[in-house]
Parts: sequence; C-alpha cells; structure tokens
Amino acid sequence: MTLAPSVLAADFGRLEDHARQALDAGADWLHIDVMDGHFVPNISFGAPVMRGLRALADEFGAPLDVHLMIEDPDRYLDAFAEAGAATITVHQEACPHLHRTVQAIHDLGCLAGVALNPATPLVTLEEIAPDLDLVLIMSVNPGFGGQTFIPGSVDKVRRCRELLARTGSRAVIEVDGGVAPGNVRAVVEAGADVIVAGSAVFKGDVAENVAAFRRATATKV
Ligand code: DX5
Ligand code: ZN
Repeated sequence: MTLAPSVLAADFGRLEDHARQALDAGADWLHIDVMDGHFVPNISFGAPVMRGLRALADEFGAPLDVHLMIEDPDRYLDAFAEAGAATITVHQEACPHLHRTVQAIHDLGCLAGVALNPATPLVTLEEIAPDLDLVLIMSVNPGFGGQTFIPGSVDKVRRCRELLARTGSRAVIEVDGGVAPGNVRAVVEAGADVIVAGSAVFKGDVAENVAAFRRATATKV
C-alpha cells in the first residue's frame, strides 16, 4: 500500500517540518489538496504553496500527488506541473472535455488521474480508463478534511478494480477521505493501491500514526 498523507491536515505554520515528519516515518507520497471555493465550498492553497514542498519531496524521492478540486482545471495544469507535480488528478465533474484534459496533463510530462465524487458513477470512466494512470475514489464529499468515511466506498473500489480490468487499464486506485487505521484494511482488500489520509496522519503523533497504518495493513502470518 502506498500511503499519501494529505498536507491539508498539516500545521500550515510549519508545513515543511510537519510533512517531513510523515516522510521520515515512511510515508510514500505527499497529497496536495487544492480547493477553489467554487467546485468545493472551501479554499485551501495553490501552486506557490505546493512549490514550497518541492525540495522536501525531492530529498525523499516522494512524488507530489496533486488533487485539483477546482473548476476549469485546464487553466492551471501548467502551473502545477511547473511547481513539481508528479501526478495531477482532476475531477470528472469539473471537466466537460475530460479526454482533452487528460492529454494536456500527459503533454506536461505528468501522470494523469481522474477523481469521482461519491455520487458519480464509475461508468463515467468507461471510455477514458485506458488512458489514465490513477483513479481517485472519493470516500467523502470533497471540500474538508476530517469527515466520516462513506461505507459504500469500499464496494465502489471493488467495482472500480473490475472496470479497470475489463477496460485493460493499468491505472492505480487511490482512495481519499475518512481513511484511518480502523478501516484501511477493508479499503486495501477491496483493491485500493494508494491511501490518502489527512487527519489520521497529522493529528497527534505523526510517526505513531504512520506506523498504525502499516500495522493495520500488514499481512497476518
Ligand atoms: C477532501 C480531501 C482529502 C482530505 C482527506 O476534500 O480531498 O484529501 O484532506 O482528509 P481526511 O483524511 O482527514 O479525511
Ligand atoms: Zn484529496
């Protein structure tokens, strides 16, 4: 399991240091939640703040995993690529010309992901799936950290795995929202490759929190 802590839940007054604690503890990626106050009812930060994490990410070889919860993401793809994004994920609901947007992400040299809100059916990815590097299943309604995991998301992950196999897609499945040591095993067993966690990593002792995720997903002998 790839663990991608969401820095949205970090202390922005000491962002780099807090993110470093997660990477020191063995986290794999840094998840960058960008919110515009239009697509979602909250504003977070943009490419300049993310750029401040680039040196840290490079030091650890940790990809910056950008989740754009914004309207008209095409306008900002180059800014996030330039700021060091490894993966750029856009929302299906925000992209009327999704194929063109995915192509634009690839043309910038980044991996391309598409996120689905909880009410958006998987079938909307049927045609684009073979072109994707990542599918992000939202397990809360996007906009805020610290929300409760929507239980039906586990079955959606399982069905997403089937869709990817059926369409010949090699995309990885990422799950985002309300994931914690208590439910992560079910999410991974359903087929998730990448787990995003904000509060469950950054609230309290970061090293202990990361270790709890690893224990929860360790194979029992
Ligand atoms: C929600 C964001 C998530 C969120 C996860 O809109 O996309 O990445 O920060 O935070 P937790 O793990 O606290 O639900
Ligand atoms: Zn996210």
